[in-house]
Amino acid sequence: MSITTYTELEGMKKISEAVAATLKQMREYARPGMTTKELDEYGATVLRQYGARSAPKLTYGFPGWTCISLNNEIAHGIPSEKVKLKEGDLINIDVSAELDGFWADNGGSFVLGNDIHQHNALVDASRQILYKAIQQIKGGVRIADVGKFIETEAKNAGYKVIRNLVGHGVGRSLHEAPSEIPCFYDKANTLRFKKNSTVAIETFISTKAAYAHDKGDGWTLVTKDGSFVAQHEHTILITDDVPVILTEANEI
Ligand code: CO
Ligand code: CO
Repeated sequence: MSITTYTELEGMKKISEAVAATLKQMREYARPGMTTKELDEYGATVLRQYGARSAPKLTYGFPGWTCISLNNEIAHGIPSEKVKLKEGDLINIDVSAELDGFWADNGGSFVLGNDIHQHNALVDASRQILYKAIQQIKGGVRIADVGKFIETEAKNAGYKVIRNLVGHGVGRSLHEAPSEIPCFYDKANTLRFKKNSTVAIETFISTKAAYAHDKGDGWTLVTKDGSFVAQHEHTILITDDVPVILTEANEI
């Protein structure tokens, strides 16, 4: 959305704070032995404290309050009573929500406890690439050029990017224009970032796979080749200088 009033700016700040705090607190709450459903229910209580409503539930009827994806799952993992978190799991939590008609989206991958499967290099690369990519964005910058930057940074670190999951505009709904902010160079995408607009920038950094596939449950997206993907996402406000990271409080 394009921010034109103080009320809109305050609305976006408030919901961004809510999703960032929920993501941060869920990460801190996660423990081996806990089911993904328990972790999701905890996230729901934090969202409720802010008066925020789960965006994937409202928008798509998603069967959970937040998306929790484990190991070879990339995104949109369904919280489950049967799946328990384990030490060393690569976990992605994505929290998006609505409050007073404003919407924000953020996510992040992390390793639970000791990094026994050595996922931390991938996680750190994704987090750093997102931060560096955000620094490139200002009004007038081509969306394709930021995609190229993310793809190049990933390649230089020995990784690939997922080509069928993308960032997007956010603000008056969960997904709005610009509909695609890819993490690769899409030369057909001639759009530019606009000053005073809010967007969700996300990385999908992969050890090998280039595409996400449907797991077969109608929601969860997985790699088919056993490779791993780390995602980090912030909702940002674009200016004519470095952007304001509205969800920056999600870091531990
Ligand atoms: Co998200
Ligand atoms: Co998003």
